[in-house]
Amino acid sequence: MAPESDYAKVTQQTVQPDVWLPVLYTVQERKAENRGIVTLKLAPSEAEMIESIEPGQFNMLYAFGIGEIPISISSLWNSQQQLIHTIQDVGTVSKAFCNLVVGDQVGVRGAFGTSWPLEEAKNKDIVILAGGVGIVPLRPLIERILHDRNDYGKLNVLYGARSSENIIFHQDIISWQADPTLNFQITVDHAYSNWRGNVGVVTRLIGNANFDPRNTAAFICGPEIMMNYAVHACLDVDIPEDRVYLSMERNMKCATGFCGHCQFGPYFVCKDGAVFAYPQVKSYLNIAEL
Ligand code: FES
Repeated sequence: MAPESDYAKVTQQTVQPDVWLPVLYTVQERKAENRGIVTLKLAPSEAEMIESIEPGQFNMLYAFGIGEIPISISSLWNSQQQLIHTIQDVGTVSKAFCNLVVGDQVGVRGAFGTSWPLEEAKNKDIVILAGGVGIVPLRPLIERILHDRNDYGKLNVLYGARSSENIIFHQDIISWQADPTLNFQITVDHAYSNWRGNVGVVTRLIGNANFDPRNTAAFICGPEIMMNYAVHACLDVDIPEDRVYLSMERNMKCATGFCGHCQFGPYFVCKDGAVFAYPQVKSYLNIAEL
């Protein structure tokens, strides 16, 4: 028998063979969040299923014959077997997912990536800054903190959308607004005549948040330019930079650190991220086209 190559040995040591194989899931529920954004509840079609997923992690969703995309888990309020993903129609593959109907089948690989550091955030005040669909990977974080509410200090959720038409997760927002243990603030960049709330960028809402910066963890997700401003808004109010966390987005193919598509400075976003502490990425955030 030929000796095993070093590459084969490394591959066997570092990658579970099944991470390459999609597991079959069936669309159990489909909810249109707004035009172009859909939430799918997926249930395993057979005995095999994706094991434990944490807030901030993502799965690779495969539309048969079309392609595969990385999508964050968007809720953990479900049975262990089901997966909830919220998808924005921004390209051929995401459009295919947005057009699925109940009963359709998809492939799922995962779970991949780092998760929001909930352990490090325990006993601290929390500031969550979401821009646009950046609320998607942050919703399971909010759910988990609300579930373990006594483990955390003051909770602030600051959400910015382009306009009222772009707001998603309306049911969650109603319950967050009614929850006395949560300070929820929302703003829009552009207001229509029927909007009575805040207008302006989400970073302005940090002035309405209630926290002790010496004992606060901040979690940020949104367009990269928004995250840049949000990080600096946090640093300006003296939240320590090593307690500011953000979720990066890059093109992904393998999701296992092999193909290099998601390279960001010295990191592979698929396995070193997508959640990073700000000091890890601050040298690379402002480099155009990186
Ligand atoms: S997607 Fe292949 S290395 Fe990250």
